[in-house]
Order: sequence, then C-alpha cells, then structure tokens
Amino acid sequence: MRVGIIGTGAISHKHAEAYHNIGYEFAACTDVIPSKGEEFAAKYGGEFVRTWEEVCRHPRVDFVDVCTFPDFRIQPLELCAQTKKHIQVQKPIATNLETAHAMIKTARAGGIVLGVVSQHRFDDSSQFLKRAIGQQRLGKILQADAYVKWYRSAEYYSRPIKGSWATEGGGALINQGIHQVDILLWLAGRVSQVYAEWQLGALHKIESEDVVSALLRYASGATGVIQASTAFWPGYTERLEIHGTKGSAVISGDKLTAWDVENDSGEPPPLARDVASGASDPMAISLAPFERQFRDFGDAIRTGRAPLVSGEEGYYALELVDAVYRSCREGQKVRLNA
Ligand SMILES: NC(=O)c1ccc[n+]([C@@H]2O[C@H](COP(=O)([O-])OP(=O)(O)OC[C@H]3O[C@@H](n4cnc5c(N)ncnc54)[C@H](O)[C@@H]3O)[C@@H](O)[C@H]2O)c1
Repeated sequence: MRVGIIGTGAISHKHAEAYHNIGYEFAACTDVIPSKGEEFAAKYGGEFVRTWEEVCRHPRVDFVDVCTFPDFRIQPLELCAQTKKHIQVQKPIATNLETAHAMIKTARAGGIVLGVVSQHRFDDSSQFLKRAIGQQRLGKILQADAYVKWYRSAEYYSRPIKGSWATEGGGALINQGIHQVDILLWLAGRVSQVYAEWQLGALHKIESEDVVSALLRYASGATGVIQASTAFWPGYTERLEIHGTKGSAVISGDKLTAWDVENDSGEPPPLARDVASGASDPMAISLAPFERQFRDFGDAIRTGRAPLVSGEEGYYALELVDAVYRSCREGQKVRLNA
C-alpha cells in the first residue's frame, strides 16, 4: 500500500512510523505550512507536494490519509471519489452530522473505501472485551461507562482554533472523549436516549465544553455514563467500565485492568498494569493499535470489505456526541434512532 498524507502535524508522525513498521510506503505529503511538510517528507522519505489536490491525484498513492483538523475532510474526500483513491481520516469524522453524512454518501457513490482512525478499538483490551461480550461471558450488559478525566494546558488551547465549534466541532468530548464514545458503542451497542450537562470554558479560555457529563440509555435497555474533561489537573487515566449480570470488566488507558467474572472460562483475559494514556500528554499513546488499524484498512481495500471503523461507524460516534451537545443546549433528554 502507498499512502499520501495531508497535514503533517503532531499525529501524522505516529502515522508515518506505523506505516513504516507495517511495510506501507509513504509516497507523498503536503501541509499548508510548506516548511513543515518538507521536513516531514525528508524525515520519512516521501515526496512533498504543494497542494492537497496533488496528493489526491498522485499516481503513486493508493489511499489518502487526512491528518488535519476535522473541518477539513470532505474537501479531499470529494476529489478522492473522482480520482478513485481510498481515504482514511483522523477522528472525529467531521464537525457536524450533515458533513459526515455527505462524506459517506460521496465515498459510496465514488466506490472508494472510507475509514476513520479510532485506534483504541485495536488495543488488546478492547479486542478481548469485544470477543468476550459476544460470547456472553459478562452475561447481559447492565451498565457501560466511560470516564475521561483528562487535563490539557493553557498552552494546548493557545491556538484560537483549539476548542472552537467551527474548526474542532467542540471541546473535550468530540476531541478527547470520542475514542471512548466509539468503544462504548462498539461494545454495548447503540444508544437510544441521552441527558447531559456541560460547563463551557470551565478552566480554559475556550467557547466549548471542557467538562461534560452524560447519562445514557442504550437500545438494549442498559444504562451508562460518559464523563469527559480536559480541565482536571493533573489528568487521570481514562476508564471504561462494563458491568453485566455475570461480572465486570475495566479498561484503564489501553489495558484491561479488571476482569471479575464468576465461574468464567475461555480465552484468558489480557490483564495488565502498565497503561499508556493521553491523560496529560496528547502524544503519550502507543503505536501498535495504529499499525493494526492501518493493516485493517489496507486489507479492506484489497478485499473489498468494510474496514472495522468505517465511515458509518465514525458517524455513530459523532451522532452520540451531537446528541450529548444538543441535550446540554436544550436542557432536556434527546432521543436517537438506535
Ligand atoms: N487518534 C488519536 O489518538 C489522535 C491524537 C491526536 C490528534 N488526533 C486528531 O488528528 C487531527 C490532527 O490533529 P493534530 O494534533 O495532528 O493537529 P496539528 O495542528 O498538529 O496538525 C495539523 C496539520 O495540518 C495542517 N493543515 C491544516 N489544514 C491543512 C490543509 N488544508 N492542507 C494541508 N495541511 C493542512 C496544519 O498546518 C498542521 O500541520 C485532529 O482531527 C485530531 O483530533 C488524533
């Protein structure tokens, strides 16, 4: 697989390393700040081109990887649908549901594969829990929660686009908590109702939320909580807690740290202690799940199947984020078509 990268900022370096490790070729890149893109190209051995259009048309590129802010995804996707390049975008899929919907429709009409990076689905912990829940090892799921009590500094928010509605689509939930939103939906199923409360700019000078708490009702009847924050110094390892009629499981950071199930049998749980978490440092995250997700995306292209985190899956996560935000704005419960 040969990859073209648009946006050579912080996360793109993890992408380049992961591509190298799995034997994908980094063919071309661009950035609106040319010196940044040129340095990136020199470091990882690809070609720097001046515009994102050139990346989408590049003859040596099989798929385009979009690592810019979430208000810039549909523009390259529309061109990729014409040039027949597959496309993977960083989370969140978009800043609003209308754009996300148009992206899915355009990719489908163009016959290209659309994937959304949500690498924690590929952690050993979440992969194990997905299989174990499918095998009913936790029984019927009663409650599925996510707690993302993180901290980001004033410097992190010093660029005006950070935490803005227009460019980032919101604050702590859409940018940080969306990984856990995605995993909750994958493990516990769709959500049918949400009630939420937020604090806008509680600690930081941002227009969106840096503290939000939501109460969920899943379509299955289970209940749950999502708490997301970037205002809680010094930042704590995020947790996912799943409780069923047969027992409980906890993921802390990227590791399974509790598996308490009576009379359990089957695949041994990958219990571990040394967790990796972006609790206070956005880049303190592991490479392995990126490698697995990129392999999955390449396999999806080769075989014509959907990637594990398809455009539709990215849409579901954004849909729940949007419902939480609407509930906060309107001060009432929001129903979803689950
Ligand atoms: N999956 C994860 O764990 C994870 C972690 C961090 C960031 N992210 C996501 O990755 C995305 C990028 O975040 P980041 O922290 O790398 O941001 P960043 O600001 O460090 O990098 C973005 C880069 O894109 C460039 N850019 C902006 N618009 C462009 C355009 N039209 N054409 C070409 N280049 C353009 C910017 O100059 C910048 O270099 C965001 O959606 C963020 O949520 C994901």
